[in-house]
Amino acid sequence: MQKLIQKLENKEARLGVLGLGYVGLPLAVNFAQAGFHVTGFDLDQRKVDQITAGESYIIDISEEELREVVEAGLLTATTDFSQLKNIDCVNICVPTPLGKTRDPDISYIKSAVDSIANNMHAGMLIVLESTTYPGTTDEVILPELEAKGFEVGKDFFLAFSPERVDPGNPTYNTKNIPKVVGGVTSNCTEVACSLYSQMMDTVVPVSSVRVAETVKLLENTFRSVNIGLVNEIALMCSAMDIDVWEVIDGAATKPFGFMPFYPGPGLGGHCIPIDPFYLSWKAKQAGSEARFIELAGQVNASMPKHVVQLVVGALNDRRKAVNGSKILVVGVAYKPGIDDMRESPALDIIELLAEGGAEMNWHDPHVPALPPAYQGKKLEQLTVEQVAQYDAVVIVTPHSDVDHAMLLTAGPVVIDTRNALKGHKSDNLVKL
Ligand SMILES: NC(=O)c1ccc[n+]([C@@H]2O[C@H](COP(=O)([O-])OP(=O)(O)OC[C@H]3O[C@@H](n4cnc5c(N)ncnc54)[C@H](O)[C@@H]3O)[C@@H](O)[C@H]2O)c1
Repeated sequence: MQKLIQKLENKEARLGVLGLGYVGLPLAVNFAQAGFHVTGFDLDQRKVDQITAGESYIIDISEEELREVVEAGLLTATTDFSQLKNIDCVNICVPTPLGKTRDPDISYIKSAVDSIANNMHAGMLIVLESTTYPGTTDEVILPELEAKGFEVGKDFFLAFSPERVDPGNPTYNTKNIPKVVGGVTSNCTEVACSLYSQMMDTVVPVSSVRVAETVKLLENTFRSVNIGLVNEIALMCSAMDIDVWEVIDGAATKPFGFMPFYPGPGLGGHCIPIDPFYLSWKAKQAGSEARFIELAGQVNASMPKHVVQLVVGALNDRRKAVNGSKILVVGVAYKPGIDDMRESPALDIIELLAEGGAEMNWHDPHVPALPPAYQGKKLEQLTVEQVAQYDAVVIVTPHSDVDHAMLLTAGPVVIDTRNALKGHKSDNLVKL
């Protein structure tokens, strides 16, 4: 153990990051910037080629900073997993989606662990960062690695450390978000903390892998449940003709005991719509029912349909039907300032309106194309003349580089699901 800690402190340890997406690439770049030699592993040859060419595909990593570590020889990328033989510490950052029946799909973790097990050697540290249910590290990963004849805490070290990165956040990043770390044994925690403290400002050890796994699920369940609550309040306010946004702003003036959450067109991204179900699935096996999670999931999942109802009502008031109308969705990424489309409610809204016979267009300066299965053409330029041709405009994600006020002056009815037009009053404005 001391040998590996020494190597980490001297920046001589060879680091590996398995999975080079939104989480893995920033982690690899940050380790490289701290002076380590880092190898990134991914199944996706295109990502490997882009990194090798110094081209960043992740919003939080600039071309400049990527090129700097690649050209200095501190970061390389490969699809050749046999190079794990030369790696001292490896972080697993692969996807953890839900399956068709909304059960956890940990197949990517299993395949990543297979690659590590096939190339394992004594003295290795393995840290899982992918969000998952409590028990994944010690029930699924540990037995496979121990089957190679190594003893955990002595011959190798295994830990879980949840990734909390928030793509597009200008204040908090991989380096300054406190890092929670739980090892299978106390030695594992110590080695994993030593790895992170070489690069991160604050490392927070916890007593077990299961605590660390559940920390992440609590954080995201907290968000999902509070968003579900405020979405339900928005539906109530809408029925009573009260402006929910003003209600929230009023409540947020209380300096204690209240934290504002905002309603919206539905949940998006790879975390909030998915992670709570990892917890409820595991809790069910232990005989515990996750009622808040299920209820928040239902309310949040109903929001795209509510938005469609607002569009139907707004068109109806203007003696128009969805069928045959031209509708523009503005902002299709799942949150402002990023290009990530995963689980975006815009996709559901576009599909539902297209099914109703609407001609669908969308505009998003951050997103080049929708996933192939989705309908709707991109409107490249958002001008008054272009917008005037639509019967309705739906603001789903308010990017700061879009002129939302112009939409209102252009003529069509605007359904604003995010309060992007705060302070504006118009007969043509319908707010969630
Ligand atoms: N995106 C976020 O904002 C965020 C934030 C916190 C936590 N997380 C969690 O982090 C994990 C990774 O998420 P992400 O957004 O970076 O995913 P991603 O899809 O952007 O990246 C995952 C990468 O892993 C690669 N991959 C898949 N299987 C592999 C394997 N067997 N070996 C090597 N590479 C493999 C994929 O090709 C892809 O490049 C998930 O568990 C997610 O829930 C994500």
